Amino acid sequence: MALATLRQLLDQAAAHDYGIPAFNITNLETLLAVLRAAERTDSPVIVQASQSARKYADDILLSAMVKAAAERFPKVPICLHQDHGSSPDMCRSAIDLGFTSVMMDGSLEADGKTPASFDYNVAVTAKTVAFAHAAGVSVEGEIGVLGSLETGGGEQEDGHGIVGTLEREALLTDPQQAFDFVAATGVDALAVAIGTSHGAYKFSRKPTGDLLAMDVIAAIHARLPDTHLVMHGASTVPEELQELINANGGNIPRTYGVPLEEVENSIRMGVRKINIDTDLRMALTGSAREYLTENPASFDIRGMMKSGLARMETLCAERFERFGAAGHGARIDVLSLEEMARLY
Ligand code: G3H
Ligand code: 13P
Ligand code: ZN
Repeated sequence: MALATLRQLLDQAAAHDYGIPAFNITNLETLLAVLRAAERTDSPVIVQASQSARKYADDILLSAMVKAAAERFPKVPICLHQDHGSSPDMCRSAIDLGFTSVMMDGSLEADGKTPASFDYNVAVTAKTVAFAHAAGVSVEGEIGVLGSLETGGGEQEDGHGIVGTLEREALLTDPQQAFDFVAATGVDALAVAIGTSHGAYKFSRKPTGDLLAMDVIAAIHARLPDTHLVMHGASTVPEELQELINANGGNIPRTYGVPLEEVENSIRMGVRKINIDTDLRMALTGSAREYLTENPASFDIRGMMKSGLARMETLCAERFERFGAAGHGARIDVLSLEEMARLY
């Protein structure tokens, strides 16, 4: 099956009230786990690669692997998405590699760390939309600055975060700005800032409304009922994975992610794409640590990865089920990029 666009998958999700997990992939194991779970649950899926994942895995090899996966898993509608593209050129290079969707993250400047102005964001995003849509490729934009309301978005223990800190209002997406941004750029999907952040260290306690601004999603959805919203930093950071890592020589201070029930609530308010990276990293790391602890004489790298693959697959399958995507894969007839281009 040809790769699907983000726009087609999210339109379908909106029509049937479900959300689609967008899993970050970085190697064969993460890709295999995601696709085995998608096939098992009959779900459409978004696989996304960050700029650093493209660099790590060699982006020609990484994109070829996803195209091969489309042949190996012919019943799974797969969208290949550039996560957090930091410039129009970066997005263009993804399209040249066969990505069917790109995120132009103009909420930050090209360094990926410094909060950008609204005008800069509109300019780089509109430019990306123009060439991407001409090729049938979808575009996700971001308005507001992703970051923890506890730390003002500043750098965290795992290196994630922006340069400096911002007040609550400057971090959270302003619904009127979101409306103006969508009108000015024509993006297919909009990432919003509601207090989530990348990585494991999102919240120092189970988040309530002061830390996780679900009311902001409601307000944006009221202004933009037909726009597909995206939740970044949506890993749940499961307690059992923190314990697995720590029981096998790790040292992760107690931390909290986004409760699964809040992700489910957000899907009822127009969130259609849910970004997950950290949970897969933790599942693989915890499993590898456990294997090495239990088999100190082993240097079998397949043995080391195997239980992690299974753990990631289980986690992905649970997300497909809980977000309502399970059972919808076979209902989607993937449209070609040419057909998508004609629809714009
Ligand atoms: O955007 C955040 C993702 O977790 C990707 O992280 O840049 O280390 O691959 P990465
Ligand atoms: P997590 O770090 O919560 O998995 O978020 C990933 C993400 O938003 C990638 O864009
Ligand atoms: Zn993100």
